[in-house]
Amino acid sequence: MLVPGSAKPPRERGVAGDDNIVTAMLFKNLRSEIDATLARDPAARSRLEVVLCYPGFQALLYYRLAHWLWQYGWHLTGRFISHVGRVLTGIEIHPGARIGKRLFIDHGMGVVIGETAEIGDDCTLYHGVTLGGTRPTREQGGQKRHPTIGNNVIVGSGAQVLGPFRVGDGARIGAASVVLREVPDGATMVGNPARQAGRRSGTEAGPPGFEPYGVSGEIPDPIARALNGLLDEVAALRARLAELEATPDLAVPGESAPPGPEAVRRRVAGAQP
Ligand SMILES: CC(C)(COP(=O)(O)OP(=O)(O)OC[C@H]1O[C@@H](n2cnc3c(N)ncnc32)[C@H](O)[C@@H]1OP(=O)(O)O)[C@@H](O)C(=O)NCCC(=O)NCCS
Repeated sequence: MLVPGSAKPPRERGVAGDDNIVTAMLFKNLRSEIDATLARDPAARSRLEVVLCYPGFQALLYYRLAHWLWQYGWHLTGRFISHVGRVLTGIEIHPGARIGKRLFIDHGMGVVIGETAEIGDDCTLYHGVTLGGTRPTREQGGQKRHPTIGNNVIVGSGAQVLGPFRVGDGARIGAASVVLREVPDGATMVGNPARQAGRRSGTEAGPPGFEPYGVSGEIPDPIARALNGLLDEVAALRARLAELEATPDLAVPGESAPPGPEAVRRRVAGAQP
């Protein structure tokens, strides 16, 4: 039987275990997606909790089914499944979008992923993210209108990524940013329109180190940051003093040995030896 609207030939039926293969294809990544949620959300306690209470995970179930139907030309059915998923989870994923492995959508409410959006592996989206187009018109139907997100990308809450450009591997998009242009690998983009606030090296940008909320755990709090600054300054001054102590030019005329620390301090301060 021809599947309505399908560009692909109908699938052969009657092969032993066919249904099992379809089920396996649809749900083969479920376990790794649950584990990805557990690994990336400090608040998640068990697999059962993820299955029952995480709309991001549930939305992916609806998406996988809708996308499978879409691929086989069941467009209206795919859209309907996607719509049911949206009503129940608050997350709208067009069945035509292409999503890689272990996507984690945290909180989820208000996330919109457009028809021609592509998302790589191990990405994280927070609530209110839009992966959308800039000037949606009917003429653009069938063309690439939405962004392509690389691997290990984190998109902060409320961020809008609009247009058919690429967001590089390991990039981080700040909360509430509006990204309208290509993002290099490892870049941190913030603001509206988004500007580059930083860039990690290639190794830092890659897997596996997920940073909750996109913020590196190595960044200390403000007091620790200030203390670190003071310690750096003390170390630099010590090094400079040691350098001065070892300088023969600072030796007192008539004395062969370099002056001691006290003499150097007095000379540097302009005092008489
Ligand atoms: C973008 C982000 C990943 C940067 O984190 P970071 O590496 O720790 O960067 P810093 O905090 O050192 O900030 C770097 C610069 O960007 C600015 N900045 C950071 N986040 C910003 C944002 N969302 N919007 C505007 N500017 C931002 C900082 O003020 C700083 O500017 P400065 O250099 O002029 O002082 C992080 O701030 C962020 O937005 N994460 C997403 C969090 C989120 O969505 N949480 C939802 C949880 S429910």
